[in-house]
Amino acid sequence: MTKYVINGGRPLYGDVEISGAKNAAVAIIPAALMVDGVCRIENLPGISDVSTLLNILKEMGASIRVVNKRTIDIDCSHIGTSSATFEKMRRIRASYYLIGALLGRFGRADVAMPGGCNFGGVRPIDQHVKGFSAMGAKVSVRNGVVQAVTGGTLRGATIYFDVVSVGATINIMLGAALAEGTTYIENAAREPHIVDLANFLNSMGADIRGAGTNEIKIRGVRRLRGGFYSIIPDQIEAGTYMAAVAGTGGRVVIKDVIPKHLDCISRKLREMGVTITDFEDSVVVERTDPLIRTHIKTMPYPGFPTDMQPQISTILCLANGTSTVTEGVWDNRFKFVDELAKMGSSIRVTERTAIIEGIPCLTGAPIKAGDLRAGAALVIAGLCARGESVIEGVNYIERGYEKMIEKLTALGADIKSLDLPDEPKAEPREIG
Ligand code: EPZ
Repeated sequence: MTKYVINGGRPLYGDVEISGAKNAAVAIIPAALMVDGVCRIENLPGISDVSTLLNILKEMGASIRVVNKRTIDIDCSHIGTSSATFEKMRRIRASYYLIGALLGRFGRADVAMPGGCNFGGVRPIDQHVKGFSAMGAKVSVRNGVVQAVTGGTLRGATIYFDVVSVGATINIMLGAALAEGTTYIENAAREPHIVDLANFLNSMGADIRGAGTNEIKIRGVRRLRGGFYSIIPDQIEAGTYMAAVAGTGGRVVIKDVIPKHLDCISRKLREMGVTITDFEDSVVVERTDPLIRTHIKTMPYPGFPTDMQPQISTILCLANGTSTVTEGVWDNRFKFVDELAKMGSSIRVTERTAIIEGIPCLTGAPIKAGDLRAGAALVIAGLCARGESVIEGVNYIERGYEKMIEKLTALGADIKSLDLPDEPKAEPREIG
């Protein structure tokens, strides 16, 4: 088992380069399955979710060539199966994008679904099913396998989502790219990775307009051809380092980002007394004075991202006064506060709101990550705390953060990864 050991209390200084966006990569890799020819994908993050998905495509018959550490060529021209029911599929949530991709390409899909959920709460796919059904697919879910069948190909339709869903928007966009006729998605999600997927598909020959607004129009085309594409920087990885500097104090240049995508995070950090200066492709984050309390509600983009909620809740533990954080996207995303309590925090959760009383400092403790962003939050807590923290469950963190130890060490943090061979290694399941 790997653990991270952190000696906290050091401010962070220096530069950090942000990797390609995980949530764009996990949509673009399945999208490559619909392309007839070689896709060169650049700026891929070196994270375990990406390697899991690439292995799934390989098992299906894709040929994958590593060009360099951030670039690969994927050729799925010879894939002949509409089935992706491997055990690996159950490890990551994003494997459900293979439903849209396989339906688009073959008119049918058999896909194993992710199992348990680490936030707690339900993670339904009713909006995905609603969309595919409107496009003429018969969808059933049996023994953890989603089967979707059409008479030949998906047909364009108008789909109104009852909830704003990133996953359903992406899945329907995938299927619709090769459908017969035009699809309109209403009440679509607007996250930067949705625009990135649309740009990827368009650069391979698709006809998608309106991505980034709540109405997307997809005119189906007969085929997608190979090409080049570079993935956008990771908004949440950047936000996590911004929150870390805000928590520890110091001054860090967050490089290779799209500052516009960070506005929703920067605005709240500024309210908390953090100085943030935007440049063309970097932001400088500086915190010298004590943090000020604030009130936050997570919402779909361009609202404050739910995937930054654990990190911001953690640093609010150290702000002057009482803050509130309301989770507007997921039912139960506050499990990590039990770990923060071991470090001396004062947080009370009532339904979807955490009431956080600021304290002067956190104290290092043995703590355990239960999912990816909770893990990132606990690393931040360890960096801010007095004394030593030992974090278990780091396999979750490595699903979505490339070289976190190296990046933080370069900023002056005292953080090490320890491999302890005797304890059994739990397979990460779901989320992301
Ligand atoms: C994506 O998950 C992200 N994952 C999540 O990031 C992120 O938290 C989430 O979007 C919200 O931004 C990936 O992109 C791989 P949703 P997704 O469908 O698509 C409800 C991370 O840490 N809903 O937008 O699964 C659902 O219950 C991960 O990187 C339905 O009711 O999320 C939730 O309350 C964790 N029916 C809300 O919508 C559906 O059919 C948003 O879910 C689908 C969703």
